[in-house]
Amino acid sequence: ELTYFNGEFVEPGEKCVSIDDRGYCFGDGVYEVTRVYNGRCFAFSYHQDRLYRSMREMDIPVKMPPDDLQELHEIMIEQSGITDGYIYLQITRGVSPRHHAYDRSKLEPTMLMYIRPIEEDLSKLAAGVKAISLPDERWLHVDIKTLNLIPNILAQTKAEKKFAYSAILFRDDVCTEGATSNVFAVKDGILYTHPANNLILKGITRQMIVTKVAPSLGVTVIEKACSREFIENADELFFTDTIGGVIPITKLDRKPVGNGEPGPVTMRLRDGYEKLLH
Ligand code: PDD
Repeated sequence: ELTYFNGEFVEPGEKCVSIDDRGYCFGDGVYEVTRVYNGRCFAFSYHQDRLYRSMREMDIPVKMPPDDLQELHEIMIEQSGITDGYIYLQITRGVSPRHHAYDRSKLEPTMLMYIRPIEEDLSKLAAGVKAISLPDERWLHVDIKTLNLIPNILAQTKAEKKFAYSAILFRDDVCTEGATSNVFAVKDGILYTHPANNLILKGITRQMIVTKVAPSLGVTVIEKACSREFIENADELFFTDTIGGVIPITKLDRKPVGNGEPGPVTMRLRDGYEKLLH
């Protein structure tokens, strides 16, 4: 494990974040999680683009140019010696006495990063996981990867209390995404997922599936808002995220998805994605 804080490497547990940091007080900041595999960041430019977009949308000034950010990621991998893990990066609006409104001219963003190894055996996810459905109670700009994750953490906790891996969120009758991932459905061999608009996070894993893996396997992708009925009657369902990759869902709200086994299209996409990663 190696931690970077505002320009230097710090020891784990060392004091660093101010009690007046707006990230701490308001969740006023953005973050990224990038997978480190074989000693390199997977799809780094995608994460970088999304980070800078989140900062623009949040009106947080960019202090570190893209080349320096990339170099910092590489240094962290090198110095930590971690070849299989992930890098968490967080940029908050900065430190000022607590007042809801911010004054951009008086704030210096806080930047924190750490690299950690992945301890759990992710390969077991290939056997499929359980999901529960929950209402999507988030705000209308979840395309911005902000630190404000209250509805997500409540949904994820509800899911885990029911021994599910995660929750599938529904905004009214529409399946948006997962509590910590994107959601795909397969029906009659065609792949469906919610359009990348303001109602979902445009996941990097999702982008890899839609633009690279599915086309290379000849799988048609339709980006559309799917109803609860459609999701409940899907042949296959899966989650995607940076840490777990493609995760087959074999049970939804106690009912088997398809025949209750990870589906064939899902597993082909999973294999295709793993190949990209390696
Ligand atoms: N979560 N949707 C939500 C709400 C997420 O939190 C995530 C990722 C995704 C998938 O995005 P990506 O494929 O870029 O990881 C979709 C990260 C891993 C997290 O919060 O830890």
